[in-house]
Amino acid sequence: MLALGIGQWWRSKLSLRWRQLSWIACWISLYAAETLPTCPFSCKCDSQSLEVDCSGLGLSTVPPDVPAATRTLLLLNNKLNILPSWVFSNLSSLQRLDLSNNFLDQLPHAVFGDLVNLTELQLRNNSIRTLDRDLLQHAPLLRHLDLSINGLAQLPPGLFDGLLALRSLSLRSNRLQNLDRVTFEPLVSLQLLQVGDNPWECDCNLREFKHWMEWFSYRGGRLDQLACTMPKELRGKDMRMVPMEMFNYCSQLGESSSAGLEVSGPPCTKASLEPVKPKPGAEPEPEPSTACPQKQRYRPVSVRRAIGTVIIAGVVCGIVCIMMVVAAAYGCIYASLMAKYHRELKKRQPLMGDPEGEHEDQKQISSVA
Ligand SMILES: *[C@@H]1O[C@H](CO)[C@@H](O)[C@H](O)[C@H]1NC(C)=O
Ligand SMILES: *[C@@H]1O[C@H](CO)[C@@H](O)[C@H](O)[C@H]1NC(C)=O
Ligand SMILES: *[C@@H]1O[C@H](CO)[C@@H](O)[C@H](O)[C@H]1NC(C)=O
Repeated sequence: MLALGIGQWWRSKLSLRWRQLSWIACWISLYAAETLPTCPFSCKCDSQSLEVDCSGLGLSTVPPDVPAATRTLLLLNNKLNILPSWVFSNLSSLQRLDLSNNFLDQLPHAVFGDLVNLTELQLRNNSIRTLDRDLLQHAPLLRHLDLSINGLAQLPPGLFDGLLALRSLSLRSNRLQNLDRVTFEPLVSLQLLQVGDNPWECDCNLREFKHWMEWFSYRGGRLDQLACTMPKELRGKDMRMVPMEMFNYCSQLGESSSAGLEVSGPPCTKASLEPVKPKPGAEPEPEPSTACPQKQRYRPVSVRRAIGTVIIAGVVCGIVCIMMVVAAAYGCIYASLMAKYHRELKKRQPLMGDPEGEHEDQKQISSVA
């Protein structure tokens, strides 16, 4: 009897435990279902950090069933080439998105339009050649943006408007030749900017950006190297080390009416005054024939004016000289003809002395002839 009672007591205790356990299990599964209901096939999902890791799976499309609550989505090392503009439209909780090492070449302008909480966007090592200026307009919380190792040759003005929280930006290893100061002015929180390994043309077009860089460094921003590839005289030099005075000619060019042609001319005259010391570790310079083919050497305005004056003076002198020679030749020929005529006249009419008679005789001669 007692044993039976103990047995029942145990059984009821156990069933209570089971019920509790099943309740807990149920709660956990419900919670999990609420946060990360499904995990896309082959991806790894972490319901704690709300991270979905679909990296290195050879994907050519983004999995359609990424849970809406995902905070971190890793899609690096795949074969993504084209993204439909709606592909992230349900992932408005996303904070980190990594699309590195794919084959993306164009991004629809609205593709990140719903990612209002995005703080980190990695687009490193793709094939992006152009960016739409509205691409990042709806990601005001963005703090880290990596666009390195792409084919960007230009950044559209306005691309960074509204990115007031951006702290680090990488543009390393692209095809950028110059940057516009206006594009960078909205980045008031920027602390790190990487621009190395681009074919920078250190001419008047980069002068305003140099001003911006100086201000950026002054307020504590860090910048990697901006090494010039053009003009030849500045190759390998860091743009920040090139004295601002070397760009004084730019404003002169801006004033003179003939600025259009030579505004992108490199500051060759001044650069040749202080020849660039080849860096000890630098590779031997390949011939820049392709880099700087038909650009005219720059000459200061005064020199160009002087040359112009000399040329005009020379032309005028030449014309005057030619006219004088022609006049002299004409005079000589006329004089010799007249002399010959007078000689012949004198031979025929040796006795005639007065000029008027001579004139009449001339007529006679011609009528005789
Ligand atoms: C977004 O969610 C809605 C409703 O939950 C669904 O109908 C739609 O297909 C989803 N869109 C994408 C692109 O996943
Ligand atoms: C964005 O983040 C804030 C704060 O973390 C949160 O309150 C808000 O719900 C998030 N928005 C979306 C669309 O997930
Ligand atoms: C860039 O991506 C390609 C293909 O995804 C990869 O083979 C290559 O190693 C990557 N390069 C760098 C520098 O990460």
